[in-house]
Amino acid sequence: MEIKFISDVKKQECDILLVNMFEGEETSNDIANEYALKQDKFEGKFGTTYLLPTYDKQPAKKVLVVGLGKKEDLNNNKVREAMSKAVKKALQMKAKSLTVDFEGINLDYADMISEGAMIADYAFDKYKTEKKDRLETLYVNTDEALTKKGQKRAEAMELTRNIANEPAQYATPEKLAEIALSLGLETKVYNRKECEEMGMNAYLAVARGSAKEPKFIHMKYIPKNPKKRIAIIGKGLCFDSGGMDLKPASSMLTMRDDMSGAACILGVMSKIKEFAPNVEVHGIIAACENMIGPDAYKPGDILTAKNGKTIEIDNTDAEGRVTLADALCYACELKVDEIIDIATLTGACMVALGTHASGIMGNNDQLVKKLIEIGEKSGERYWEMPMFKEYFDSLKSEIADMKNTGSRWGGASAAGLFLKEFVTDDVKWAHLDVAGTAFIDKPIKEFCKGATGIGVRTLIKYITK
Ligand code: BES
Ligand code: MG
Ligand code: ZN
Repeated sequence: MEIKFISDVKKQECDILLVNMFEGEETSNDIANEYALKQDKFEGKFGTTYLLPTYDKQPAKKVLVVGLGKKEDLNNNKVREAMSKAVKKALQMKAKSLTVDFEGINLDYADMISEGAMIADYAFDKYKTEKKDRLETLYVNTDEALTKKGQKRAEAMELTRNIANEPAQYATPEKLAEIALSLGLETKVYNRKECEEMGMNAYLAVARGSAKEPKFIHMKYIPKNPKKRIAIIGKGLCFDSGGMDLKPASSMLTMRDDMSGAACILGVMSKIKEFAPNVEVHGIIAACENMIGPDAYKPGDILTAKNGKTIEIDNTDAEGRVTLADALCYACELKVDEIIDIATLTGACMVALGTHASGIMGNNDQLVKKLIEIGEKSGERYWEMPMFKEYFDSLKSEIADMKNTGSRWGGASAAGLFLKEFVTDDVKWAHLDVAGTAFIDKPIKEFCKGATGIGVRTLIKYITK
């Protein structure tokens, strides 16, 4: 989809002209006012649309009136959702070109218009012989700089969604490394031997059951005189079979999505040079697969992480936290000011919050609050899970410093407390558990089934704010 900036949207020839209507108010379009508003009493309620033919009276073939609800209730999320709804409707009608005539909001909400359109236009159809219908052109008279910001975020999401949707047979640790190396950043990929030398024995143990070599990826964006230094870490389990504690078939089915955190980091890093924030950003991924195999790690094994702490493996399916342990230690050694990790970490978080919010935890209230606030405006909701120290009780081990899992109860919080063991106190840290939000089994709002690109907008906005 190409976005073209034009000065007179009313004169543009196209398949469909989108016109906004606030509840009960006139629009900027005669046909819409005459027929939708006056004749058919279309009210412009949020989430509703109304389609009108133009019978050659206007350059557009059709007008789609988009209800935006009450003017005073308008916000980012509503504009994005309304825009995506309009695009979905247009796609159903096989439209190829759309013109946006959203009077009154074309400046302030310009990025929501481009972002919403692009999210809705997305499809993962590379393996289908018959491709999905897509838009070719979006004509706008919106604020150009802001529109492009939304467009760049949506492009980052598209990369993230493509990587996360890709079957595990192709999206291997090596492939993630290849993508990272193609982003034009200073990037170091460590192989198994190099990770061994760095003492990442927790991460490597998880990788041992797989025939695919683990790849520890470190992408760097280093501007001159950065105001702060951040590490963003993504869980990179290219496939999670559960390991020796094998998952049942129904739970394993979508476990190619277990690198959604990593895919998010790749999406963010792919656009970082264009956004050019005055912040140093380290993108880190400990990529591997959790498989069964002759050398797979086993329940009861004791592993030593990079910081010297020992972990008794209680369940090989709680592998994400074991890989993240070493990644967090690695990031702390960079002496960054802040670390944000994003992970499809626990089924427990999905049980608690469903698919409409991701879990968030951390060791710094301000950082957690800031991320929640940014997420709310970005269409990515976070809900704070408690970090009461008692949740660690179930992780206590007789023979090691901790177990990787203990009780079924409070699983998201226990996982958060496990991760905290690998974060030094001098660094601000937040953990996003996106198990329920990264990959959906039915469409939600602007998103189709499959990968959502969760985290991309929050991290980009946080870094560039
Ligand atoms: N990758 C899963 C978590 C997950 C579940 C992500 C559902 C997306 C959807 C993780 O590695 C896992 O298997 N966690 C276990 C932990 C348990 C053994 C303590 C879980 O949640 O069941
Ligand atoms: Mg698992
Ligand atoms: Zn996993």
